[in-house]
Amino acid sequence: MGALEEIKARVNIVDLIGRYVALKPAGKNYKARCPFHPDDTPSLMVSPEKGLWHCFGCGAGGDAITFLMRIERLSFQEALAKLAQELGIELRQGGEGKARLFQVNLEALRFFQRELRGPSGEKARAYLLSRGIEEKLWEKWGLGYAPPGWDGLLRVLSRFGVQTLLELGLLIMGERGPYDRFRDRLIFPIRDEQGRVVAFAGRAFEGDPKYLNTPNSPLFTKGTVLYGLDLAKEAIRRKGRAVVVEGYTDVITLHAVGVEEAVASMGTSLTEDQARLLSRHTEEVVIAYDRDAAGEASALRGMFILHGAGLRVRVASFPPEEDPDSFARKAGKKAVEEVLAQAQPFHEFFVTALSSRHDLSQPAGKEAVLREAREFWPTIKSAVLRLEIAQKLADLLGLPLEEVQEALRGVTKPVSSAEEKEEPLLTPEDLVVKFLVEGKIPDSVVTEILAEERRFSEVYREVVRRWTELRAEGVPDPGLLVPSLSPTAAARLSRLLLLDLKVADENQALEEALLRFLYLPRLAERMEAVKLALKDAERRGDQEALRHLTLEFQRLCRERFELLRRR
Ligand code: CTP
Ligand code: MN
Repeated sequence: MGALEEIKARVNIVDLIGRYVALKPAGKNYKARCPFHPDDTPSLMVSPEKGLWHCFGCGAGGDAITFLMRIERLSFQEALAKLAQELGIELRQGGEGKARLFQVNLEALRFFQRELRGPSGEKARAYLLSRGIEEKLWEKWGLGYAPPGWDGLLRVLSRFGVQTLLELGLLIMGERGPYDRFRDRLIFPIRDEQGRVVAFAGRAFEGDPKYLNTPNSPLFTKGTVLYGLDLAKEAIRRKGRAVVVEGYTDVITLHAVGVEEAVASMGTSLTEDQARLLSRHTEEVVIAYDRDAAGEASALRGMFILHGAGLRVRVASFPPEEDPDSFARKAGKKAVEEVLAQAQPFHEFFVTALSSRHDLSQPAGKEAVLREAREFWPTIKSAVLRLEIAQKLADLLGLPLEEVQEALRGVTKPVSSAEEKEEPLLTPEDLVVKFLVEGKIPDSVVTEILAEERRFSEVYREVVRRWTELRAEGVPDPGLLVPSLSPTAAARLSRLLLLDLKVADENQALEEALLRFLYLPRLAERMEAVKLALKDAERRGDQEALRHLTLEFQRLCRERFELLRRR
């Protein structure tokens, strides 16, 4: 058992949380007033059985470690160290030990780099070149290749000891012994600000998960590093701004065309640690995510975090269907600079992003915008930003400012509290994630769901990805998932895990959720595509295609009918 697992198994979450708030028993759980928001009814729920907590007022939640992190404002490593000390569990630590671990990671990187150049690296080399990542960039970014075998790295680095390699996440412990975590993957080393290798990301050529990452280790805590910062920090200072993108390839290509102030948040939404890191180098951040991703709730939340750290935030919009990587490659530096120069101030972007999802000519649409904005209200600390946003909303919705402000303030009375007896609102997506993580979905269906990962909202995509990684290691324990997630995802997941469904028939609830989340949307997409093709065939006067497509459409209609009828 690793130290993290041992801590999780032994810590008493009720004792721990009970040191900070007064807990009262409520059934098999405990309740308290939430310490993270003004709470006049006990909205915080703690489950000793599941080792999780969640506040139904402000949405915070997680396990013992995340609670300690928040309430004492500690980093993950610090919280872990504190608990370990209390429980008398030994964590490997200390400067000398770390230096050795960095050395091991560096040796691992050298191995991956050699493999990329060697005979087994042929496919990886061809792949990189096909994506326009030329040879001179391989060295700069330390790119490598993990060969397909089970023990390539293990054999070369065995002199450092299996225990060390396991701790660094380079190996996985299987039933029949340790084996290489990264197999047949392109390797992107993740380096800290000083350029030391703290972790690796392995990109699959095909199959799931697309990226496999080093888990939290003594050298790496998810959400505390920005990819590329070691090579970007000088340009960030020179240009007076940082450009934050999502992915490794975005950073590499932007630097290659000369936008060297780019760093990546690595897929998850930005954390306070990352915001602090940025604020040490600059006062302005331009967010350059894929267009859809930028407007997602978790991306917006990350932007509020940046703002809260005192940074000026603007949001760039690339043409639809382009990410910074593809756009920079096609359009070149000048075009990228133009898009960045036109980036919108955050408060404008925020309001536009919310309103583009609803029909503002209808009262219901206006209400929906206010409802979504209200969810963010508690996270907006700056009074100026609040006013700016309220003003923009008022203009856009054609409502008096006071009315908008009142609607937005509505949150402080929690929308629902643990007190309420009514069934909590779970969306089909919530249910699918809950059942998935609880291991209640048959493997064949799991494969189907993972193949359409894009259907999940960003926060849940993070949960699902991480779960897929753990599953590859054969450890699908939902309790271990929580601490390895970003704070937002951890909070959402713990809420799901804490809710005991009061449904008589779980199977039926699962079927229904899958229907709404996966099957029906999928059919709707296909029907949409066939409709488009029909229009096209009509224009071309292609009778053969028309007949064929009409049949296909009818078949899909029948399929839809069957699906709905089976309920
Ligand atoms: N990511 C991850 N795990 C996944 C998918 C994505 O950690 N299963 C993170 C990675 O940091 C990735 C970023 O999210 O770089 C953006 O994801 P995506 O756009 O899918 O990948 P790209 O980096 O653009 O990779 P590629 O260009 O090769 O598709
Ligand atoms: Mn991408």
